[in-house]
Amino acid sequence: MSKSAILSSSIAKKWWMALTGLFLCLFLVGHLVGNLQLLIPGVAGKRAFNEYAFFMATNPAIKLLSYLTYISILFHAIDGIMLTIQNKKARPVKYAYERPEKNSKWYSRSMAILGTLILVFIATHMQNFWWKAKYSSESFPLHKEVLYDPTMAEGNKVVDEEVEAYYTTQGSYIPVSQVEVKNKTELYQSTAAIKEQIAQIDPSYQSKGDNPKVAVAYKDLHSVVYAFFGVDKTNEAGIGANSLAIAAVVFYVFSMLVLAYHLMHGFASAFQSLGLNGKKFTPAIKLIGNIFAIVVPALFAMIPVYIFLTK
Ligand code: HEM
Repeated sequence: MSKSAILSSSIAKKWWMALTGLFLCLFLVGHLVGNLQLLIPGVAGKRAFNEYAFFMATNPAIKLLSYLTYISILFHAIDGIMLTIQNKKARPVKYAYERPEKNSKWYSRSMAILGTLILVFIATHMQNFWWKAKYSSESFPLHKEVLYDPTMAEGNKVVDEEVEAYYTTQGSYIPVSQVEVKNKTELYQSTAAIKEQIAQIDPSYQSKGDNPKVAVAYKDLHSVVYAFFGVDKTNEAGIGANSLAIAAVVFYVFSMLVLAYHLMHGFASAFQSLGLNGKKFTPAIKLIGNIFAIVVPALFAMIPVYIFLTK
C-alpha cells in the first residue's frame, strides 16, 4: 500500500472514531440523566426510574438509538485497535490534536489502554444489568408497593385495606395475585367479578387506590441496581443484596476515573479530527471537553457510592 493510502485510511479511521466517539458522548449524557433518577429518594424515585427503564426498553425510537449505540461502541473499539496497530507498524501517525511526544500528556498517549479498560467495563456492566433485564432466564422482580385496596369486610361492608400491589405499566396498581407478567400469564382472579360484587353492595364506593385491574407490571430494575451496589441484606423485591457490593462500587468508581481520562483527550481530539478547529475554537473546545470529562464521570461515580452509603 502506498504511503498516501495508509495516511488516507488512517484519516478515515480517525474521522469515524471521532464521529462514533461524539455520538457515544451524547449517549453518556442521556444515560446519566436517566440514571440520576436513582438518587431520587423513596418510592417516587423507584417509580420514576422503573418507568424510565420501561420506556427505554419498549420505545421503538429508543430501540433504534440503542442499536446505534452498540454499533458505535464496536466500531469505535475496533477502529481504535486497528489505528493503534497501524500506528505502531508505520510511522507514528497520531491524532492531529497531539503535539510532539514531550508535550503530550500520559493519557493522550494511553488512549488504547484506557479504551480497552472502558470496553471491559462496558462488557461487565451490560452483564450486570442489561443482560439480566433483557435476556436472563432468572425471574426478574416486579415493582411492588404497599397501598390501599378495597376488600369486603364482615357484614358485607366494603373497606380499604393495606395490601401489597404491583405497580403497573399503566401507572395504576393491581393486587399481587392479579398481575400478568410479560410473556407469562399469572392470573388468579377475575377482576370484573370483584368489581361487580362491590358495586352490588356499595354502588358509590370509591377506593383509595385504583380499582383492581389486570395489567403488566414494571420490571423492578431499581431494586436490582440497589441490590447490586447495596449492602442491606433485606430487600422488599425479594432479591438479596450483593455481598461483593464494595468491590462493585470500587470497580465502577475506578472505571469512571478511566473514562474521565479517556474523555479528557478524546473529546477535544474528536473535534480536531473532524477539522473543527481554529485559534479561538480549539481552546473553547478543550475547556468544554475538560469540563465534560470531569463532570459526567463524576456524576456517574456518585450513583454507586450514594447507593452503597444509603442503602
Ligand atoms: C455508574 C453508573 C451507571 C449505572 C447505575 C448504570 C445503569 C445501567 C442500567 C440499569 C442499564 C440497563 C438498562 C436497561 O437495559 O433497561 C444500563 C445499560 C447500559 N449502560 Fe449503564 N449505568 C452506569 C454507567 C454507564 C457508563 C459509564 C457506560 C458507558 C461507558 C454505560 C453503558 C451502558 C450501555 C451501553 C448500556 C446498554 C444500553 C442500551 O441497551 O441502550 N453505563 N446501565
